[in-house]
Amino acid sequence: MITLICAMGKNQEIGEKNRLLWDLPRDMKHFRERTAGKTVVMGRKTFESIGFALPKRRNIVLTRNNDFSAKGIEAFHSLEKVLDLADEKKEEIMVIGGSAIYELFLPYAHRLSLTFVDKEFPNADSYFPKFEKNDFSIKEKNIWKKDEKNIFDMVQIEYERKI
Ligand SMILES: NC(=O)c1ccc[n+]([C@@H]2O[C@H](COP(=O)([O-])OP(=O)(O)OC[C@H]3O[C@@H](n4cnc5c(N)ncnc54)[C@H](OP(=O)(O)O)[C@@H]3O)[C@@H](O)[C@H]2O)c1
Repeated sequence: MITLICAMGKNQEIGEKNRLLWDLPRDMKHFRERTAGKTVVMGRKTFESIGFALPKRRNIVLTRNNDFSAKGIEAFHSLEKVLDLADEKKEEIMVIGGSAIYELFLPYAHRLSLTFVDKEFPNADSYFPKFEKNDFSIKEKNIWKKDEKNIFDMVQIEYERKI
C-alpha cells in the first residue's frame, strides 16, 4: 500500500530553494508518528534537503544516478521497483516527497496523509500535484489551531482512495 504524506500551503506550496517553508512542530510530530517503523521513499533532492537518513525507518532514495550512495539509505532507480516492494511486502510505504516524487506516485496512492497549512507562500517553487478530492474519502480530520510554537492554523486529513 502506498501513502503520500505531505504538508502544503493554501496554493499547494511545499518548498522553496529545496527547503521547507515553515517550522511547525505539531506537523513534524505527526510526520514522525505516521512514518515510525515504516519504509519511507523520497526523491534525491528531498534527501539532500533533509541531509541524513531518518532514524528508525527504512530509507529509500529515488535517483537516476546509478553511483548515488549515502549512509543509511538504499538507492532505487525506478518507480516500478518501489511498487514491486509495496506488492511484495504488503506494508504501508510512505512517500515523503518532494514534488517530482509525489507526482510520480499519486496515481498509485491508496492513501494521502495531508496537512493543510492556512497560509500562502508566494516565494514557493515546489508544489504538491493537483489531485481529485472526489477520488478519495475522508477517514480522519484533525484541526490544529495555531499556538506559541505553531504559528499557522493547520488541518490534517487522512484520505483513502474510494476504489
Ligand atoms: N512540505 C512537504 O511536506 C515536503 C516534503 C518533501 C519535500 N518537500 C520539498 O520539496 C522540494 C523538493 O522537490 P523536488 O521535486 O525538487 O525534488 P524531489 O522530488 O525530492 O527529488 C527529485 C529527484 O528524484 C529523482 N527522480 C525523480 N523521478 C525519478 C524517477 N522516475 N526515477 C528515478 N529517480 C527519479 C531525481 O534524482 P536525480 O536527479 O538524482 O536523478 C530527481 O532529481 C524541496 O523544496 C523540499 O523541501 C516538501
